[in-house]
Amino acid sequence: MTTPHIRDFHPDDLDGILHLWEQAKADGTEPVYALSEVIASCQIDHAVVAVDGDRVVGAAVGRAAHAQGWIVFFATDRSVPAVRDSDLGARMLAALERHMAPLGLAKLSALMPESQTRLDDFEAQGFELKKNLRYVERELPVQREELVVLRELGGRLLSRGLWEAVGGMQNEKEMLELRLVTPLARPDLAERFGVVPPRAVMLFGPPGTGKTTFAKAIASRLEWSFVEVFPSRLAGDPKGLAGALRETFQKISELEHAVVFIDEVEEIASHRQGEPPSPLQGVTNELLKLIPEFREQSGRLLICATNFIRSLDTAFLRHGRFDYVVPIGLPDTGARRAIWSGYLPTDVAAAGLVDVDALVAHTDGFTPADIEFAARKASQAALERALHSPTAEIAGPFTADYLEAVRSTRRTVSDEVASEFLEDIDRIARL
Ligand SMILES: Nc1ncnc2c1ncn2[C@@H]1O[C@H](COP(=O)(O)OP(=O)(O)OP(=O)(O)O)[C@@H](O)[C@H]1O
Ligand SMILES: [Mg+2]
Repeated sequence: MTTPHIRDFHPDDLDGILHLWEQAKADGTEPVYALSEVIASCQIDHAVVAVDGDRVVGAAVGRAAHAQGWIVFFATDRSVPAVRDSDLGARMLAALERHMAPLGLAKLSALMPESQTRLDDFEAQGFELKKNLRYVERELPVQREELVVLRELGGRLLSRGLWEAVGGMQNEKEMLELRLVTPLARPDLAERFGVVPPRAVMLFGPPGTGKTTFAKAIASRLEWSFVEVFPSRLAGDPKGLAGALRETFQKISELEHAVVFIDEVEEIASHRQGEPPSPLQGVTNELLKLIPEFREQSGRLLICATNFIRSLDTAFLRHGRFDYVVPIGLPDTGARRAIWSGYLPTDVAAAGLVDVDALVAHTDGFTPADIEFAARKASQAALERALHSPTAEIAGPFTADYLEAVRSTRRTVSDEVASEFLEDIDRIARL
């Protein structure tokens, strides 16, 4: 029986490490660190191996994070008698510690599955078992390889919680949750019931009703990258607008998951007649060709938004291109409450001096932008009043200031536009 000896890792040892890793996994003690992490640490951090002849029978791999070192892989091949009956494990740990000594680490730690009951190698080397620890992890949604493409596209991963931050709009939220989010987030469930996940939706409604907000909220909810395509910005591209659009969609297909957003889509997809024809209209045909291709890929969703649904080319909207044509109306009471609350100065809100219900009740038909305008106006009025009588402790704005501002704010969405929207819902919406 030969005695295995310990030496520094060499690139030829990778196969042996792979074998040890697979062996650990098969034994039901799958290492905490992924194989790719272990290999990376073998190559650029610290690793020692035990070899018996030319066979790798043990490995200890470490990396440093500031003053703390982590053992990212530790395994011995216990099917080899010479390994089972020796202190090889403890000696490998000692060798790894020597390897990392020049770093001046304060602590060396190891994390392993609970099923790894044998700790004697660690204990022999002075490691102490810590009790009452728990381990949590989260898979991050965008993988490193995607970052370059995402950056080129000007896309990004939005913060979590945007969906929850959409105030009110219960009907719209519920509909989007059931028809879009659920089938996309849970393809297994969709398949079980024969539901084909949607690939493209159109949101329409008067200005400022929350179409962009919803598009972003959906991306945040799905934890998919958000890529906004600006057809008008592609116009200056030497490949021409259509070519640039095609190239953009080509790049998007390299992403694992994406919500692709085209705002003001009427600019490129309005009725094709028109004198003189807008340079953007040439792109309608390109987009009409791109959508079917886009629809063939899973893991992505196209969201288009428009204020003028009735001006869109009918070919653009037909079945088979857009799964749903969803109206997003003016903010309801819940949404207005959320928006109003967002505009109250912190101190004023905390003092509870403002009757938010009254503001909500008096702003039926207001867009969020109208509410913002009224809120600013009330704040300005309160500021001016405070300058005239600086002694008052709290100078508002009070409910009366807000109501006054509301009275003098003209609504963006006229009754006429509001009734056209209702007609559009009847004629064009598809849910
Ligand atoms: N339900 C909501 N809760 C809270 N804030 C909202 C809500 N809906 C819209 N807002 C706010 O109102 C503003 C306008 O919304 P948004 O830009 O999404 O509207 P839009 O429909 O895309 O408008 P446009 O037609 O002009 O593009 C944003 O500042 C947004 O944060
Ligand atoms: Mg918008």
